Amino acid sequence: MRTFQLWFLIFPFLHLQVLALNISASASTIEHTPLRYAGNHYYDADVVTVINGSIANLQDTSIDLAANAVTQGLKYYVNNTNYRLIGIVVEVAYRLVANKAAGITKLADLRGKRIGVVPGTSSEVFVHKLLASAGVSDGYTIVNGTYCLREPCASNSLPVQFGNGTVDAFGAWEPSVELGVRALGVDNVILFENATAYREVYSLYSTKEKLRDPHTRQKIVKYIRALDRTYQVYKATPEKVDHWVAQTVGVDLPVLRSVWKNHVWGPGRLDKALVDFIQHEDEYLARVDKRRPFTRAELERFVDTSVYKEARRASVKQA
Ligand SMILES: *[C@@H]1O[C@H](CO)[C@@H](O)[C@H](O)[C@H]1NC(C)=O
Ligand SMILES: *[C@@H]1O[C@H](CO)[C@@H](O)[C@H](O)[C@H]1NC(C)=O
Ligand SMILES: *[C@@H]1O[C@H](CO)[C@@H](O)[C@H](O)[C@H]1NC(C)=O
Ligand SMILES: *[C@@H]1O[C@H](CO)[C@@H](O)[C@H](O)[C@H]1NC(C)=O
Ligand SMILES: *[C@@H]1O[C@H](CO)[C@@H](O)[C@H](O)[C@H]1NC(C)=O
Ligand SMILES: *[C@@H]1O[C@H](CO)[C@@H](O)[C@H](O)[C@H]1NC(C)=O
Repeated sequence: MRTFQLWFLIFPFLHLQVLALNISASASTIEHTPLRYAGNHYYDADVVTVINGSIANLQDTSIDLAANAVTQGLKYYVNNTNYRLIGIVVEVAYRLVANKAAGITKLADLRGKRIGVVPGTSSEVFVHKLLASAGVSDGYTIVNGTYCLREPCASNSLPVQFGNGTVDAFGAWEPSVELGVRALGVDNVILFENATAYREVYSLYSTKEKLRDPHTRQKIVKYIRALDRTYQVYKATPEKVDHWVAQTVGVDLPVLRSVWKNHVWGPGRLDKALVDFIQHEDEYLARVDKRRPFTRAELERFVDTSVYKEARRASVKQA
């Protein structure tokens, strides 16, 4: 603290904006909100700007960090071998909602059914992985749809297609599934989930070059500590943040409250089990995208545990 004040006296211009961070993430997700909260409340070093984007924006060097599910992380790692997964923001065991009236009481009953997904995303990976976990690897029809945050949902959205019988089931991130449950009524649906077969690992990414640059790295380490404080609030006292989250994302509060428990807020563990999990997902994506799977060494390089280690050391020192 004293060092910092001294700097401020000698180089007042350095104090302005030097620790500003730009982060890219989809603003239409519950998952991204800790990124904003950390910037607003715990990153006292400077301004955090969250732009509505994705991991694709990391190609723009003015973006320091991005967040997305591992599905997009892997898709972009193919052409951007400098991308690094440095932390987990939230893990979500996605749910699949099915219409009981279509004769569905167990996963195996989804054979021959029409199942909605958000194409090219973690929603699609989830549906395939969940069905495979019950030995169903084909014989069902995938139908494309969009996610929805709040009723009234668009006509091509998954909750509407489910509500009027265009699809018999669908799987995606929340609150779309919750809106699907509400569209048919909780007594008329059955829900499936299996976090071992698939869970969304919504993660934070940067690039090798950003992490190598001491100044940018210092900002990122500070921000990681701000995120850690945020996860504590999200986990321990959701009632302190859920109004704000609902308003920020445009979700109705009762709907948000009913899906809060499905979200396991960070920081998660960047260990061998995570690399194993990512490798399973990559084997699937490589098949679908007709490319070779990443090698174990490539995946180990993708998951960079060094930033978290440094943040932990820094916070011990500060305490
Ligand atoms: C990054 O942040 C700086 C400072 O806050 C801002 O001037 C700049 O426009 C931001 N870049 C993007 C791409 O948002
Ligand atoms: C974020 O951008 C996407 C398009 O990429 C758009 O569909 C969505 O409405 C935007 N979300 C917000 C909250 O502005
Ligand atoms: C990666 O690059 C190839 C070849 O340029 C291109 O066809 C493909 O669409 C790119 N993939 C992504 C996810 O950008
Ligand atoms: C669904 O989306 C995928 C990916 O965008 C596309 O390849 C496929 O043709 C679409 N299916 C239909 C029936 O439109
Ligand atoms: C369901 O709604 C969609 C969008 O409004 C429409 O295209 C479709 O025909 C409807 N299907 C049924 C079975 O009513
Ligand atoms: C969940 O998925 C795992 C991995 O695919 C599988 O071994 C397990 O049997 C599934 N659990 C249930 C309850 O279906």
